[in-house]
Amino acid sequence: MSNEMPALMEMARPSAQEQQRVEALRAQLRNANYLYYAQDAPELSDAAYDALMRELRELEERFPELLTPDSPTERVGTEAVNLFAPYPHRVSMLSLDNAFSADNLRSWEDRLRRQLGAGPELAIEYICELKIDGLSVNLTYENGQFISGGTRGDGLTGEDITPNLRTISALPKQLRPLSSRASNGDNSVIPLSEGAEAVPTPGGQGVPARIEIRGEVFMSHREFARINGEAEEQGGRTFANPRNAAAGSLRQKDIAVTAKRRLDIFLYAVGECEGWTFQSQHDLLQAYRVWGLRTNPNVRVCEGIEQVIEFCDEWSGKKGELPYDIDGVVVKVNSFSLQRELGQVSSRAPRWAIAYKYPALQVRTRVESIEVQVGRTGALTPVANLTPVALAGVMVARATLHNEDEIRRKDVRIGDWVVVQRAGEVIPEIVEVVKGERTGDEIEFAMPANCPSCGAQVVRAEGEAVLRCPNEECPKKMHERIRYFASRMAMDIEGLGDKQCEQLTQVGLVRDVADIYALTKEQMLSLERMGDKLATKILDHIEGSKTRPLARLIAGLGIRHIGEHSSEVLASHFGTLEKLAAASVDELAGVFEIGRRTAESIRAFFDEPHNQRTLSKLHKAGVRPQSHDSAPHSDRFAGKSFVFTGTLIRLKRDEAETLVKHLGGRASGSVSKQTSYLVAGGEAGSKLTRAQQLGIPVLTEDEFLQMTEDITEESDLA
Ligand code: IVH
Repeated sequence: MSNEMPALMEMARPSAQEQQRVEALRAQLRNANYLYYAQDAPELSDAAYDALMRELRELEERFPELLTPDSPTERVGTEAVNLFAPYPHRVSMLSLDNAFSADNLRSWEDRLRRQLGAGPELAIEYICELKIDGLSVNLTYENGQFISGGTRGDGLTGEDITPNLRTISALPKQLRPLSSRASNGDNSVIPLSEGAEAVPTPGGQGVPARIEIRGEVFMSHREFARINGEAEEQGGRTFANPRNAAAGSLRQKDIAVTAKRRLDIFLYAVGECEGWTFQSQHDLLQAYRVWGLRTNPNVRVCEGIEQVIEFCDEWSGKKGELPYDIDGVVVKVNSFSLQRELGQVSSRAPRWAIAYKYPALQVRTRVESIEVQVGRTGALTPVANLTPVALAGVMVARATLHNEDEIRRKDVRIGDWVVVQRAGEVIPEIVEVVKGERTGDEIEFAMPANCPSCGAQVVRAEGEAVLRCPNEECPKKMHERIRYFASRMAMDIEGLGDKQCEQLTQVGLVRDVADIYALTKEQMLSLERMGDKLATKILDHIEGSKTRPLARLIAGLGIRHIGEHSSEVLASHFGTLEKLAAASVDELAGVFEIGRRTAESIRAFFDEPHNQRTLSKLHKAGVRPQSHDSAPHSDRFAGKSFVFTGTLIRLKRDEAETLVKHLGGRASGSVSKQTSYLVAGGEAGSKLTRAQQLGIPVLTEDEFLQMTEDITEESDLA
């Protein structure tokens, strides 16, 4: 950059807000570094981390006066933590800048050419390697013997994990001298492959006198599944993903634990090296192979950046076939002399290499079990319980399998490795089964012929893919109906939560929603963890719910196809429950926004004798809903604005938004500085990144629900 710049351009000064943003970004990145490097418990996705880092770098480039040497953009990882002895690296271990698109790679090539003072005619030779998602380590070999090894730490000093590294069987304790395999007689120049040469410096004994060899320790999918399976059987802690498992296994004080985990390693870089010179990265990999070091076979020397882009695209499609995780491709300028000429950007990253990162929108994980859920309409939904895995920054533990046809079509079996994806903002779905990982022990799943809750024979209505439990007395169906009726989406009966509803249906005290109004104090006290004060309070709330707005009651009845919005529409159109119950299909279908299918469903509901009995019981109990009104029920969320993203498990998106409105808050579709909370369900995407960038508190669905419920336990009462 020119020194004349200040004279030519007006230098912008950072506003107070921009300065605060820089500080906030640094704090977030330091925290993320600490969790990732020191705790092996990352909370940010790579994509979210990269986005924060990019934003900080852009601000620092715009306002160089804000740049400080301790900024996360100037450092690698975090300081080493004190569990192990310090392991100083003789040559510091650098990190890499990232590219996220083909254009980023093209701009990188332009920068390289500019740096080299060359024009577009210069054909740069690159080497593409897979970016192994593990833990980088530095190994020291003296005269071919493994002496010691450490983690990266802050890039200057890591942790000495020599005994742990010794347990890795793929790591040779002794290098195989080059001359014994590929000697050309005088040992001066040893051709290893066409166009690549490793040149021992004079006096070389077939191995360097001393060399720092760098690589990645990782865990295969199979081993990850094995240790997590074992941990589960023994009630121990499972790892979220293979990278965490590798890190957790390697940084063990008790090396017997490391030894039991079959860690693997690929070597790909060099630090200090005495007694040997390499001409290129390709050379280095060839020498490593001959010395008996494990290198990744999927490398390609490319002429120009377009060939590099082809390699990246190719592996974007194939990466799911690998038995270990990669998170991108590392592209390196092949020639070591060009690398030297290019040097480093900062103390953090070299100019001659870049990490092309794949967007982490698809991940592999295992189907641990398939369970069938019974909803309040009796629909049976198969749900895959997955080994929890981070996907775009959020842990995904379940994926819906929709119905039996879907399971057959995808041939999903229990124990299968599957690719799970987030597409836009829909529920996480299983894209495909990784058939190559099958061992033969996978179990085919069949939908039950009987309801898992009540045992009634399930039915499949003509033309529908969904199986349903037809039993109106089914305890699970009842439980779900009552839970929904009492929830804030409907009658908003505080204190009558999921557990209470489950117990009430289990012991037979509540068989339909109207039974709630007949509950006595004595009956309430027979429930677990129910004290006098709480029972009184809940009974008061039950009483108070008798005059909820009509739309709430309609929503709470559980009529198929009737959600929050249609309840409002019906309430405002008919005004009373009696009028709604008396309306014909034609009349109903004539209401704006009510379709024929919904109209039929409403009619069928009111024609059903069981429902008629419930309605009459509700009336007798004194339930007198108020005609349409859209005022909030409480001001608990007054002044607060919520954004929902990702897949919510317990609430539908519109239900969650209505809930916020009922509690006096605002629900919005996009994240801004005005957002009070982002509620992130599974597979949240760009909204989550944006919220993190703006420092907006992010809640899980459960945390959000906790905020909406302030009395569930006796101890919560004032
Ligand atoms: S080369 C100065 N090659 O990616 C260059 N790194 O984001 C040093 N990684 O710290 C790294 N596979 O932990 C290189 N084939 C590969 C790699 C690789 C994975 C990791 C490594 C590094 C990080 C940089």
